[in-house]
Amino acid sequence: MKRTKIKEILANNNITETEIVASGWVRTKRVSKNVGFLSLNDGSTIKNLQIVIDINPEIEELLSRIHSGASISATGNLVKSEGVGQTVELKCNKLEILGEANPDEYLLQPKKHSLEFLREIAHLRPRTNTFSAIFRIRHAMTFAIHKFFNEKGFCNVHTPIITGSDAEGAGEMFQVTTLDLNNLPKTEDGHIDFSQDFFDKSTNLTVSGQLEGELFAMALSEIYTFGPTFRAENSNTARHLAEFWMIEPEMAFYNLNDNMDLAEEMLKYLVNYALNNCYDDIEFLSKRREEEQKTKPQNERDDMNLIEKLKFVVTNNFERITYTQAIEILLNSNANKKNQFEYKIERWGTDLQSEHERYLVERHFKKPVILIDYPKEIKAFYMKQNEDGKTVKAMDVLFPQIGEIIGGSQREENYEKLKARISELNIPEKDMWWYLDTRRFGTVPHSGFGLGFERLMLFVTGMGNIRDVIPFPRTPKNAEF
Ligand code: 4AD
Ligand code: MG
Repeated sequence: MKRTKIKEILANNNITETEIVASGWVRTKRVSKNVGFLSLNDGSTIKNLQIVIDINPEIEELLSRIHSGASISATGNLVKSEGVGQTVELKCNKLEILGEANPDEYLLQPKKHSLEFLREIAHLRPRTNTFSAIFRIRHAMTFAIHKFFNEKGFCNVHTPIITGSDAEGAGEMFQVTTLDLNNLPKTEDGHIDFSQDFFDKSTNLTVSGQLEGELFAMALSEIYTFGPTFRAENSNTARHLAEFWMIEPEMAFYNLNDNMDLAEEMLKYLVNYALNNCYDDIEFLSKRREEEQKTKPQNERDDMNLIEKLKFVVTNNFERITYTQAIEILLNSNANKKNQFEYKIERWGTDLQSEHERYLVERHFKKPVILIDYPKEIKAFYMKQNEDGKTVKAMDVLFPQIGEIIGGSQREENYEKLKARISELNIPEKDMWWYLDTRRFGTVPHSGFGLGFERLMLFVTGMGNIRDVIPFPRTPKNAEF
């Protein structure tokens, strides 16, 4: 007989004569004199199905071999439940063990585990309520992103993962090579001879699909990429990964305002989608977070629960201000004057740390903020230069708890200006000829941005550490699993 998913069984609540089969992993077992109870989860929903079975010697033997983590199939009828906590349960007529889980060796025993411990057993953590909820939401967010762009007529473009260019110019790249590292070929002047490497040149894992995305926006008008990106920056924070996923829309004929409108509309759409389609999981994570908040000192607690926070973002307009205005607010803030920031703001021109971004969002405006017009020195070469000669048409979207969730800009579409900036920054023009060509032939004003998918996931799930919202985190000194 074909298995019915537990989500479907519980949604239908159909109490019928026909037998059904439920399969999954046992969360807990309780055995009394005459009956055994198993709570079964198959990952289709956060909810468990209660399996009830009358005890006879054969069943007793079976039950003695079933422990938390074991996989079973249960055949029977759905009946009204006598107990509390569920309206229906499966009255089991046939029980089959698919795979046992020895309780002396199985690390995921049914008790409270720390998130740190669960990271060490990342191969098992999807079997917990918390992580199954997170990864169901991650799937829903992936789907919602494609749905959003599809409804708007954007084309998804698959940009390359191996690249010969450093898109952000930050130089924090993972090299890709087939050269024998123990026996590197050298040129006459002593440098590594990359002409003998697989691609006949030095290559890296991409830090962004933007530059290639721009090429496609110059033909298809509105495109987006959604892929893995890699950064070898040695930042061991709760918001950085060495491998993360990024959504990068790129739009011809959009100015910075259009760009901000799209970013705000997209974030609201995604949060709204989560509220409407992942409610059980979000409710679970919201309760989990409330418990976690109780362990924190009063002044560090969040006054909104997760669901309130999500609804707040959907219903409020994001505050839009310039970098210069933000610096003024920060310079005049008590936090800065009383040296409460780890990095004190001294002058216009400094890059903002996440503590400053969070101050603006959480304490000053108390809502998401979009900062624009940053000093050109702290932003990438491709951003459109403003008339003042000092700032560029950059935009960062800042969220509570997270800081920067989106980074983007209007692009410099003027060939001469872009070329000048490239040479000012000593970026080798020979690597950029194809990018510069877009500005030579049929150039148009255009804009785009990058949404860090895991940062979005942090916000939607209310989790505190980015390592907990990606299946297998890659961080400095950590690539297990
Ligand atoms: O601000 P970033 O570096 O912008 C770009 O890469 C542009 N090419 C985007 C564009 O205009 N098409 O990165 C964009 C976003 C950040 O706002 C942040 O959410 C996320 O990517 N991000 C990271 N997420 C996790 N770990 C890291 N190490 C991240 N670095 C950036
Ligand atoms: Mg950025």
